[in-house]
Amino acid sequence: MCGIVGYAGKRQAAPILLEGLSKLEYRGYDSAGICIHGEKSLQIAKAKGRLQVLCDQTENGNAVKGIIGIGHTRWATHGAPSDVNSHPHLSDSGKIAVVHNGIIENEAKLRTQLIAKGIQFRSETDTEVVANLVGYYYEKTGNFVTAVRKAVSRIEGSYALGILCEDLPDTIIAVKKDSPLIFGYGEGENFIASDVPAILKHTQLVSYLEEGEMVIFNASSVRFFDGNGDPVEKKREQITWELDAAERGGYDHFMLKEIFEQPKALRDTISPRIQKGEIVLDGIDLSAQYLQDVRKIYLVACGSAYYVSVLAKYIIEKTCRIPTEAVMASEFRYAEPVIDERNLVIIISQSGETADTLAALREAKRLGAKTLAIVNVVGSAIAKTADQTIYTWAGPEIAVATTKAFSTQLAVVYLLAAYMARQLKTMDEETYRAWVTGLEQLPGEAEKVLTAEKVEAVQYYASRYYGHHDAFYIGRNVDSAICLEGSLKLKEVAYLHSEAYPAGELKHGPISLIENGTLVVALATVEPLFDKTMANIREVKARGADVLCVTLEDMAQEAQKQGDGILTIPRILPVLQPSLSLIPLQLFSYYVALNRGCDVDKPRNLAKSVTVE
Ligand code: F6R
Repeated sequence: MCGIVGYAGKRQAAPILLEGLSKLEYRGYDSAGICIHGEKSLQIAKAKGRLQVLCDQTENGNAVKGIIGIGHTRWATHGAPSDVNSHPHLSDSGKIAVVHNGIIENEAKLRTQLIAKGIQFRSETDTEVVANLVGYYYEKTGNFVTAVRKAVSRIEGSYALGILCEDLPDTIIAVKKDSPLIFGYGEGENFIASDVPAILKHTQLVSYLEEGEMVIFNASSVRFFDGNGDPVEKKREQITWELDAAERGGYDHFMLKEIFEQPKALRDTISPRIQKGEIVLDGIDLSAQYLQDVRKIYLVACGSAYYVSVLAKYIIEKTCRIPTEAVMASEFRYAEPVIDERNLVIIISQSGETADTLAALREAKRLGAKTLAIVNVVGSAIAKTADQTIYTWAGPEIAVATTKAFSTQLAVVYLLAAYMARQLKTMDEETYRAWVTGLEQLPGEAEKVLTAEKVEAVQYYASRYYGHHDAFYIGRNVDSAICLEGSLKLKEVAYLHSEAYPAGELKHGPISLIENGTLVVALATVEPLFDKTMANIREVKARGADVLCVTLEDMAQEAQKQGDGILTIPRILPVLQPSLSLIPLQLFSYYVALNRGCDVDKPRNLAKSVTVE
């Protein structure tokens, strides 16, 4: 949700900024801009549209000279995507340039006050308010740092800001609250960025800014301050990702690459946590005594991570016998949940910075619950705020539509459920052993769903069904949760209207929408419910639906009698089956999107991490 990058060094800044922005485009891609300090003046280049438009306009940055600058790629919140609403924004005085990720909640009030002081605005953005506020205090105090501090003390909301001042050709100031910001240490050069991939080519040594912190830097020096303006020492952290982890590496799209990375991501997430046949969750403190007193577990998340939560409810209740509820983070806070220290709140998030999820986490803590986060991005706000964190080791996920993060979140849910059940003694030894073995084998089983033969089958059905206008995903029990995710993927990347329903629920209303040629994707992997799902397939077929059925290899023959199309997955431990049934659905959405000519990695209106409510 907007990406920012900043550079101070000895090399030409613009090409470095543009290259960094290309790695942040997943955060927003409706416009982009840079501001380069050309020693005497601030030079701005910005353009509506994809980053490529700006690259063409500036000859890949070569047309804008200077060795210090800031850049931005935008996901519009205040004001439509346009050249004028693109960042960076200049103060009315022209002295201050700002890039911003986040939302200034009191922008309307501040705008009115600044206009009353004679300051003129050119855009509809909240960011221009920050530029003008800093500009206003700079006029009054003549001190750049003081001006930024005063401005920041007046703004409410979330922000990661990168700021330049025309009078100081070698200084960048950056500040952070509720939006991510990292500082990167180079040799004779320094960086800021919203996320690691933007600067990974230049440095792997970073510091994560904490809430309210400010960094003031140039090519050779850096100073950090806390929210009170006191100097702070920052821990330097080594990024362990390889550069190619954030590259497409021969795949046409990040989404496809990330689908194929799932076996590795599962292995990286599961194998360190199984030692000598035991599930080990380092640093996690969930004793039997504590768990026995938990009266209810809440799982709180957004989007796909919420669908992992829906699955987790089935898994945790079945294994731990603790009442469990999945709640959408955007609803959690305002529903006045009945929560206190007897509740465990599990937060799930790939980015670790989703605004609704972070707010829900804070609310859960305020109410006294113990909180545990399942997060992919190390050092993210959610990881730092939760009492305890279990990381999914999926590596960087760049495609807007999540795939490998979902799989690894689910893997952590399995590990956690078995771990808690072991503590609670609600799982017998034999079942526990079967889970451990099943989890160890899961990455290898996922590979079997990604063989050329399996993928070709998905491609075939995608080319057969891509022209449909509506799709329904139906399934029972855990299949119904995977249907939610499959349906979301199809909406997101293929722009195909789709709904997901528990198969038994369809006849209570939505079946009225089934007509000749409606696509129904039916999941039938839960063996005890197989016959019931087949009956539901018959119901929709009787109304003219085209049915694509996903089932186990050894049940395919039976399913074939009902479905028009069949996709199969290997049989594994039943409880783990959703980890495999998910994969053909991801591939199906991907290939349907390709057939429909959609921009898979950058779907319209979406951005990877949603840092606004
Ligand atoms: C869907 C998708 C989103 C995210 C949701 C939560 O493909 O990616 O629905 O799952 O925005 O994001 P995180 O997990 O970063 O909190």
